[in-house]
Parts: sequence; C-alpha cells; structure tokens
Amino acid sequence: MSSERKDQHVTLADAQHAEPPARNDFDDVRFMHHALAGIDRDRVSLRTQFAGVSWRAPLYINGMTGGSARTGEINRSLAIAARETGVAIASGSMSMALRDPSTAGTFQVLREQNPDGFVMANLSADARPDQAAHAIELVRADALQLHLNSVQETVMPEGDRAFSAWPDAIAAIIDAVDVPVIVKEVGFGLSRATLEQLADLGVTVADVSGSGGTDFARIENSRRDGGDFGYMAGWGQSAVCCLLDGADAPAGSALPALLASGGVRTPLDVVRALALGARAVGVSGVFLHALLRDGQDALIALIRTWLEQIAQLQALLGAVTVADLGDTDVLLRGSVREFCGLRGID
Ligand code: FNR
Repeated sequence: MSSERKDQHVTLADAQHAEPPARNDFDDVRFMHHALAGIDRDRVSLRTQFAGVSWRAPLYINGMTGGSARTGEINRSLAIAARETGVAIASGSMSMALRDPSTAGTFQVLREQNPDGFVMANLSADARPDQAAHAIELVRADALQLHLNSVQETVMPEGDRAFSAWPDAIAAIIDAVDVPVIVKEVGFGLSRATLEQLADLGVTVADVSGSGGTDFARIENSRRDGGDFGYMAGWGQSAVCCLLDGADAPAGSALPALLASGGVRTPLDVVRALALGARAVGVSGVFLHALLRDGQDALIALIRTWLEQIAQLQALLGAVTVADLGDTDVLLRGSVREFCGLRGID
C-alpha cells in the first residue's frame, strides 16, 4: 500500500463529490410533517451515547486518510475542524504507519491538533492485536475503528483475496485492547446477518457505512489497467436500508449499537439516519470535498452550520434528544420500500 495510492484515493473520492449530490436512499425517507409538533430550539440536546461513549454531537468526521505528505496536511485540517467544532474524528487506515514508521506523523497530527477531542484510530479487520494496540497508542485513540472492505480489496488490483481470517482477528483485537472497537464498512453496508455475526464476536458498536456516497468499487476500478470491474459500481446496501434491516432484528437479539455513514449529504440526512436508530452519523466525502474546494475555515463553518441545523430540525420535529427522533413519523418510499418488502420488514 503506497502513499501514492492514498493520494489517488483522495483525488478520486473528491471527484465523486464534485457533482451536485446525487439522489440516494436518504431521499426515500420522509418525515410526516406535524405542524404543531415543534419545541423550542433551546431545549434541544445534541448529546448522544453508545457503548460507554458520550459525544456532544451525533456527527463525526469518518475515517479517510494519512500516509503521505498531502494526506498528512489533509488530516491536519480535518483535526483542526474537529477541534473547533467539537465533533469526533477518525483516522484513515493506519496500516502504513505500522509498516513504515516514517509515515506515523501523518496520522499523529490528528491528536497533536486535537489534544482533547475524541479521536479514533483505524485499521483493517485482519490486523494483529499488537498492531491494534500500537495504532491506538500512536494517536492516543479513544476508540478503534476496524474496517471491513472486501469489495474494495476485490476490485483493487493489488488487493487481498483471502477474507476468512477476519472474524477471528476481530475477536482477538476486542480481547486485547482497552478502548471501544467500532467495526465499520467502507461504503457497502452491513447486513443484519453481519451485525449478528459481529455481536457474536463481542462487537458492541458498528458503523453500517452504506452505499450511495463515496463508491470504492468505482475508485479502485479506475486505478486498474483497463478498469474491467466497472460493473461493481453501486454494490451493497445503503445506510438507510442497513438501519432498517438492523432495527428489524428479532426481539431479544442484542445487535451492536449502530452508527451510520455513507451517502450523507445534508443535516437532513443526518436527522433521517438518527430517526432510523443511528446513535451518530459519519461523513467523509462531503467534508473532504468542502475542505479541498473551499479550505479549512469553510469546512469549520460548514460543520457548525450542520450542527445548528441538526438542532433546528430536532426542534421542528419535537425531539428534545437525539434518541427522541426515534419516535418521529417516518414515511418510506421507492427503493427503500422495495428493500423492506424483499426483506420482509414491516
Ligand atoms: C475513506 N474511507 C475509509 N474508511 C476506513 O475505514 N479506512 C480508510 O482508510 C478509508 N479511507 C478513505 C479514503 C477516502 C478518501 C474516503 C472518501 C473514504 C471510507 C469512509 O470512512 C466511509 O465509510 C465512506 O467514504 C462512505 O462515506 P461517505 O464518503 O459517503 O460520507
């Protein structure tokens, strides 16, 4: 895995977000409007809790990058944005820092610029427990994200082709580290069966990171000679479908607490995901694009606007707390409704 590849990911992901936001499954989630349901903005709390973690806001900058000079600079700006707005932030995969310690600084900048913030380290699910502990130590991480990216590896020319060791590796890491472990996809979604499997492995938090936003099948295909995996674009389930699938688990089954990301374009998408049961919502591509196009101050202003508008939407919907959003009337249509029909979800 080269630093050149990290730079390509940033360039190709940024290009996917340069167009006006595309339609995705979040558009098929509508709130029933109740004109007298509103409460006072001053009463609204954005605080959210899951698996012993408590955040001031249900929004975070999701794992992206590090490993090259350019991506180290990007991490510096993202970390400053997280510090200035009080949102949590995740590193991109730190496997390069483990292989080539000279790149560690491009990740450690996340902690240096944000000493008191909530910082998540990030590794692939096949990491060894000692590697996980080292990654956590490098950024003094408050939690560890483990990414599941079998689709990306498959389309990636130099990708892994062996995935069977992942479940045991996840269980071993959970046993070995003393921070919460958040298992996440990278934009293809976590099915209910996967969430059940993760629960059996001891995972208490999962980020469903679904399709409809940054598409790593397209990114990796455009890095291949001949790009012959183009048909994989759009693979997977959206965050909306994953949240509905997870919420429909049989009574008594203890699935991990769910975070959501993938295809989040606006504060309304954040509120939609929270209403469907997410404890917090991660954004990557849209924030990366704002940073690269408009700069660090613009990203800080954008995140502040999102936080205020999430609170205003909660007031409109009568939700004092983030959890209260779960009591709102939500209407599902189109492809989301079709998914529910196929999965037998009421
Ligand atoms: C990512 N993502 C990612 N995820 C991860 O767990 N480890 C990683 O190293 C990366 N690298 C990465 C690079 C870039 C440039 C982007 C844009 C994204 C995936 C990310 O965390 C998220 O799951 C997906 O991008 C879907 O969210 P968005 O982009 O649609 O908001």
